[in-house]
Amino acid sequence: MTDQNLPPPLLSGPPVSRLWGCFPELRRDTLGFLMRCQAYGDVTKLPLGLVLELLLRKPGAATYVLNHPADVKHVLVTNQNNYRKAPVPPVESRIFGQGVLHTESDTHHQQRRLFLPFFHGNHVAAYADLITGQAHQITTRWQNNATVDIRQEMTQLTLSIIWRLLFGQDVGPEAGIIRETIEVGQSLIKLQYDSLLASLTPLWVPTTLHRRFNRGFRAMEAMIHRSIHERRMDAHQHDDILSLLLSATDAAGRPLRDEEIRDELMTFLLAGHETTANALTWTWFLLSQSRSIQERLTHELDEVVGDRLPTTADVPRLRYAKMVWEESLRLYPPAWSLHTRVAQAEDHLPSGAQLPSGAWVFISPWNLHRNPRWFPDPNRFDPERFSEGAAQSRLPYAYIPFGAGGRRCLGESFAELEGLLILATVASRFRLCLVDGQTIQPEPVMTLRPNIPITMVVQRIDILRSHPTVA
Ligand code: HEM
Repeated sequence: MTDQNLPPPLLSGPPVSRLWGCFPELRRDTLGFLMRCQAYGDVTKLPLGLVLELLLRKPGAATYVLNHPADVKHVLVTNQNNYRKAPVPPVESRIFGQGVLHTESDTHHQQRRLFLPFFHGNHVAAYADLITGQAHQITTRWQNNATVDIRQEMTQLTLSIIWRLLFGQDVGPEAGIIRETIEVGQSLIKLQYDSLLASLTPLWVPTTLHRRFNRGFRAMEAMIHRSIHERRMDAHQHDDILSLLLSATDAAGRPLRDEEIRDELMTFLLAGHETTANALTWTWFLLSQSRSIQERLTHELDEVVGDRLPTTADVPRLRYAKMVWEESLRLYPPAWSLHTRVAQAEDHLPSGAQLPSGAWVFISPWNLHRNPRWFPDPNRFDPERFSEGAAQSRLPYAYIPFGAGGRRCLGESFAELEGLLILATVASRFRLCLVDGQTIQPEPVMTLRPNIPITMVVQRIDILRSHPTVA
């Protein structure tokens, strides 16, 4: 950190194209490039290139990668009112509309105020039985020694849970359309971030991806509108997000319009299941790489849960499971990058760096979590980093899998409960082993997912115990 009385440090970054700025490098190797940014001090400056400078009419336009937790705190918390989210490509704004993820200022505050009580820890705890019930159902389908695509299993599971949270009922046969549309939407979002031409092409232009996305997305919208319509006709009390939205009013005291309700439901559907599914997928992958960590987890589950299903009362005693979950979110944060922020006025960061008005600010949990300055030997899977003592010595805001400040993840307490209970339900019954020969790399799309399906063998723990020689 720099003395505030000194002149601001000169900011630099890895060499980039004069014409296209940092984008070719980011496109070629996003995660590696971000790691290389760590070598340039507390803030890395990345020119946006001549083309964007001309388009934005901003000579010298740059994006600034924050590498120091104190600067992260400043932008996300202390001086958060100086920052807004950058505009998103057309497909992203079509998906999320005016849902809480993308609005600003008063509208955003009003939306958060509506949801906060729903996501309060005590209210969320009521969903424990739903979570363990759905997790148990998935595992009852697993035969001993069967091979499964673990990301697909986890996505199916978290989709069934979020659908219940939103609509109070089972997702039904339409789950397939939803999963496929989300996959296509992710590819399209990546394409639009990677290519200026793609981001300028409207969705009505009939490319193959656009057609597939539009068809699936219209079907999803129809499902949501049907659910809104049916619920309006239904006189019973429900405890789900749809009911919350139907009874809500806007700032002027008017009930929300169907379009507004749709935007919120779509936002929660997308923000609230793929993230958790990927977090769990990476957790199974990491556990399969360390027999000793896996055994310690099994030991804790034997003591706390035994052969029943876990409950909310068990959660405070699942200390090691929580350490495993947190370490997994450090190594593979599903939200690998926060939404780019744009400075509304010039700002002076605690590191001494000066950001001009209009500066794009890039904060990446992936980058912070793998910086050896904050996490020694950062690529090693070591849940001990999250033991009580170790966590206290960590610099605040070096670990931000759920973001921070006024835009911190609304579903954090739900995601944590869901992650821990699924981990406990599955790991107390099964050991998951990676099938040899797969080269698994993280792929940064909307969330951080594995580049290939992860195939794992599921072994029933009771059978392993009765035949220890096969273990
Ligand atoms: C492991 C799982 C999850 C992770 C890692 C995660 C991560 C994040 C992060 C980093 C943000 C802030 C983005 C930014 O500042 O640019 C965010 C926002 C959000 N998340 Fe999550 N999330 C998870 C699960 C969930 C779940 C389960 C829900 C809902 C049920 C949810 C709903 C939201 C919403 C609505 C926002 C927008 C908040 C706002 O802008 O005010 N998330 N999430």
